[in-house]
Amino acid sequence: MNEPTICIHGLGYIGLPTALMFAAHDYETRGYDTDPDVRETLATGTVPYDEPELDRYLAQGLNSGQFKIVDEVAPADCHIICVPTPYQEEEQKTDLRYVESAAETVRSVLRKNDTVVLESTVPPGTTSNVLRPILEGRELTAGESFTLAYSPETVLPGKIMTELRENDRIVGNISDGPAAEVVALYESFVEGTIRTTDATTAEFVKLIQNAFRDTNIAFANETAKLAHEFGIDSREAIELANKHPRVDILSPGPGVGGHCLPIDPLFLRRDNHATTLIEAAREVNDGMAAFVVELLNSVLGTVEDHRIAIFGVAYKGGVDDTRHSPSLALVERLTDYKNADTAVHDPVVKSARIPLVTQKEAVTDADALVVVTDHPQFERLEPEPIGEKMAQRVLIDTRAILDRKRWQDAGFEVRRIWWRE
Ligand SMILES: NC(=O)c1ccc[n+]([C@@H]2O[C@H](COP(=O)([O-])OP(=O)(O)OC[C@H]3O[C@@H](n4cnc5c(N)ncnc54)[C@H](O)[C@@H]3O)[C@@H](O)[C@H]2O)c1
Repeated sequence: MNEPTICIHGLGYIGLPTALMFAAHDYETRGYDTDPDVRETLATGTVPYDEPELDRYLAQGLNSGQFKIVDEVAPADCHIICVPTPYQEEEQKTDLRYVESAAETVRSVLRKNDTVVLESTVPPGTTSNVLRPILEGRELTAGESFTLAYSPETVLPGKIMTELRENDRIVGNISDGPAAEVVALYESFVEGTIRTTDATTAEFVKLIQNAFRDTNIAFANETAKLAHEFGIDSREAIELANKHPRVDILSPGPGVGGHCLPIDPLFLRRDNHATTLIEAAREVNDGMAAFVVELLNSVLGTVEDHRIAIFGVAYKGGVDDTRHSPSLALVERLTDYKNADTAVHDPVVKSARIPLVTQKEAVTDADALVVVTDHPQFERLEPEPIGEKMAQRVLIDTRAILDRKRWQDAGFEVRRIWWRE
């Protein structure tokens, strides 16, 4: 086995699956995380979050010895950096401290002819202007004595292993030469097309992909709000509009969550650079929590002094990821109302930063039920057993996943983002 050795820095949602994918493709892979709890948990074969296939890959990697968790970083032919890049809202800038710190660690073991790839989502120019100066020294120059590249990750939680294999990938080099070593590395498992460009373009592409999605969702949400004002069913209007060959409006919903879409577009902000449309889209999508409260008020008069059952805290159906979830935004918004009480239930999420209760506890004495996450379990909800526990039969179905007529027939007042009626 003469494959190069790989060290993955950061073993979270992105780094762990990437490490295991390389290990499954015969690379001697080492995983390093600064958090000892993460290292300890993974070393026992436990994946700390729900993700299909990952348990099996971890067991295989550890048992075969192809994947090892290390407490200290040793020299490796290739270093891949998958550390967090949170956004600091107050300072309006991306926190690159984790990238800088990982780069310092890599520098301490970097050798001639090694390869370094950054996968974390970063503002354009980071690989060239932040990573490169840290890594370079008197004897090592990027593009000459070692390879430096940026390759963004675009996988979807819930389908990470499949998308790692199947998605196209971009490799952005920092010198004019070909990024052949890096392409060869990813070709070991990527079935999609690998395209090459410069690192700053690759960084920019990742951000505009997510800004595009966020802006399009905002258009759908704005459409829904306008349709309410005009007394129109926005779903019918969107369906009709989409009959045109060049129109493809998305579905409105309770807001945008997850780790990427609500954050990444903001990375495009720079001093004196206006990102008017992108920031307006953020505002529209963040405003959907207030719109859901409006729907509640339209039935209850006011949410004050009412108990609201919220179904789903994951940011989307089928996953246990609650980062930036629309439900958390809704709970937060409801705290603005006097004595508005919330009870949140999620059959997939085991723990969240707010207390979770059983389905029965959530609906007992509730004045309204708001379905926020499109978990498949919720599509099968029965109106009668829920209605008989509630104080009032009110349903806000923000994803339109329940049969409105059945719930109405069971005596529920039903509201949806599409149509107030
Ligand atoms: N989660 C996603 O769906 C997704 C998708 C595409 C891109 N990304 C991007 O990938 C990057 C990583 O995201 P994530 O979701 O895997 O984050 P995460 O928080 O799940 O994991 C990051 C891990 O890195 C560790 N870490 C921090 N500093 C370190 C260092 N210096 N050396 C080694 N380990 C360190 C942390 O302890 C943590 O376990 C981010 O830039 C994110 O924007 C994430």
